[in-house]
Amino acid sequence: MSKVVVHPDQESLVAGAADLIVESAARAIAERGRFTIALCGGETPRPVYARLAGPDCREAIDWSRVLVFFGDERCVSPRDPRSNYFLARTVLLDKVPLPPENIYRIHGEDVPEKGAADYEEALGRVFCSPGVAGGPPSEGFDLILLGMGENGHTASLFPGLAAVTEKERRVMACYVEVAGMWRITMTPVVINGARQVVFLVSGEGKAEMLQRVLEGPYEPLVLPAQAVRPVSGEARWLVDRAAAARLGKQS
Ligand code: 6PG
Repeated sequence: MSKVVVHPDQESLVAGAADLIVESAARAIAERGRFTIALCGGETPRPVYARLAGPDCREAIDWSRVLVFFGDERCVSPRDPRSNYFLARTVLLDKVPLPPENIYRIHGEDVPEKGAADYEEALGRVFCSPGVAGGPPSEGFDLILLGMGENGHTASLFPGLAAVTEKERRVMACYVEVAGMWRITMTPVVINGARQVVFLVSGEGKAEMLQRVLEGPYEPLVLPAQAVRPVSGEARWLVDRAAAARLGKQS
């Protein structure tokens, strides 16, 4: 079930997203003693991360109980500005009291298949019930943040990639033609096991694609964001009015 929340502008979207993350963290920590979140890359989440590190939110989260993961990563050095880890570290992670061991970055600097295999193993360690290392996850992420590209991709699930319809592996390496680079991405197997998935979509440039993804025919290989259908969790779309401009209108 997808719920769409339309914010009047990008500033309101950023504040709403930060508030949702603070609330999700408090609930998860109260109920299970920890908050597991997967961050996304791109420009949309940047001001959200900055707000989480700012005076309104920083003290509202018990960072010692937060485990930070990444929904995808570009196969570049962690010091490369294109890296999603670089974005999160410079805007948020270096500015909050998060224990370094609580950060699970995807090793984009390694051979892609190895980086994907190692991350899959890390997920198995963190999400499997004790004594069942490597088995199927006993629980999912508390929150997975996602963006949506103008071509309907999300994380690094791009149109036509096998990872979009993967049913077993939780992490895969893919060569993304349109980006001209290798990427490592969580697959819908992990994403759809989360308690909460939140898309952040802003700007008129996303309006046509958002209408197709939310209201058009179900064709996930063409529109990978449609592959996100949490099994028991909730998908929530936080969008601004510009991105929502075509919703409810025939394309
Ligand atoms: C990435 C992201 C990607 C992003 C979309 C939207 O690694 O780039 O995971 O899926 O969320 O491309 O990016 P913008 O927020 O910049 O529009």
